[in-house]
Amino acid sequence: MTLKNNGIQILSIPKIEDRRGNLSVIENDIVPFDIKRVYYLYDVPSGSERGGHAHKELKEFLVALSGSFDVVLKDGEEQEIVTLNKPYEGLLINPGIWRELQNFSSGSVCLVVASEVYIEEDYIRDFDEFLEYSSGKQKN
Ligand code: TYD
Repeated sequence: MTLKNNGIQILSIPKIEDRRGNLSVIENDIVPFDIKRVYYLYDVPSGSERGGHAHKELKEFLVALSGSFDVVLKDGEEQEIVTLNKPYEGLLINPGIWRELQNFSSGSVCLVVASEVYIEEDYIRDFDEFLEYSSGKQKN
């Protein structure tokens, strides 16, 4: 299994270019799930990291609305780092992928579009627990 084929995908967001400024729109046809929640990270201090967890069921779509940041992704076997820096492109993260967000540029904003409301029980926040969970999944 490769992280790119099963775990993550870069998706384009339609961009409507205009002299007055560009506009991008995310509807249900852009992401492969029904959108249930939107949240965003902002005012992230320099050197700070976010994320550091995986989800059992939740799918998320991350977009750098402004500035840039790196997403470190792990499936228990492989690691990949994706830099997000375009408001018309996003990263789909499927369930069972560990993610860490780092190297936020000053003033950056990370939009997260999610397939579910907030459910703390869906989180795996301990990396060893994640490794155990993902090795169990691969055997099934
Ligand atoms: P956390 O999952 O640690 O954020 P991140 O993974 O982006 O670093 O969440 C930080 C706090 O915010 C935590 O107390 C849970 C709360 N929270 C909500 O109440 N609702 C939400 O939709 C999210 C994403 C977090």
